[in-house]
Amino acid sequence: MNLKNLKLFSDRMTNLNLKTDYRHFLDLSYLLPRDVRYIIEKAKVLKVIAKEKKQSKGFIHPDMPLKDQALAMIFEKPSTRTRISFEMAMHQLGGKTVVLQDHDMQISRGESISDTARVLSGFVDAIMMRANNHDNLLEMAKKSQVPIINALTNFSHPCQVMADVLTFEEHLGPITGRKIAWSGDVTNVAVSWIHAAALFDCELAIGCHRDYSPPKQVIDWIKNNNGRVTITENPIEAVQGADCIITDTFISMGDKDVNKRLKDLSPYQINENLMKRAKPSAIFLHCLPAHRGEEVTEDIIDGPQSLVWHEAENRLHIQKAILLWCFGK
Ligand code: CP
Ligand code: NVA
Repeated sequence: MNLKNLKLFSDRMTNLNLKTDYRHFLDLSYLLPRDVRYIIEKAKVLKVIAKEKKQSKGFIHPDMPLKDQALAMIFEKPSTRTRISFEMAMHQLGGKTVVLQDHDMQISRGESISDTARVLSGFVDAIMMRANNHDNLLEMAKKSQVPIINALTNFSHPCQVMADVLTFEEHLGPITGRKIAWSGDVTNVAVSWIHAAALFDCELAIGCHRDYSPPKQVIDWIKNNNGRVTITENPIEAVQGADCIITDTFISMGDKDVNKRLKDLSPYQINENLMKRAKPSAIFLHCLPAHRGEEVTEDIIDGPQSLVWHEAENRLHIQKAILLWCFGK
């Protein structure tokens, strides 16, 4: 992703003139360690409930904590996992969803994000948005009178990283103090991992080509928030002794320079040579969709250290916890 040209924003809601009486889930950088810990622990409990008695996926939580609540889901980009996990999460918590593709909305004919935010606030109790541009998400949050959830932008993907942390802790215990390695493009998922490293107090080692490294403003955020994040062009150094290795596609939605990216980023592919530098107990994570043979080899993503299917399922359990946090439940 080209993060260099993004207008970056201050790391606190108040500086965005956002109404603080709504619990927006815009970025992990706006949250406190106690917020993210609450969401992770809540998700663990919700997962146990979901697994009890081998409940079918269409079950409804006996307490129906989101009964009478409605979530609008706006998509400016495609989605498989995020859409279905939020839809099922709302269903299982007793709520309703309305799915809106941007090309079906008046936004596609020029209606402003701020007018859309005001109108939707009269119809639903929260809005989830997958936005092409992070500015659109923030504009929505500024004008809405209900909580806004970031379901991926060109800048960040906080819901995904919360599911990653849940997956890590289920398999390897507390994440605090552990070493996470990222190798590849510094994507929206990687930026949320940078925020997560500071909030969960873990080490994050990033191996990336210099043209794809985090922008200066994100580096400054790391320094201001005591993030233990290191960045190297040497992928072996990044993954050495790691508890977890993560990557993402080399071609994110909206990226155009395909051939250059594949060439520049190929040394950062997760393969047997890199995986064996991590701890023997190390796990492999990937947000999906994956491109076998590009950012990861088949033997790794389909191998014994890969937890990508657990990670994908955990999107459901974490979305429920994020929704409950947003609704103050
Ligand atoms: N990982 C993820 O967000 O997947 P989708 O693009 O399918 O929602
Ligand atoms: N970085 C990827 C993540 C997809 C879930 C993209 O933005 O396309």
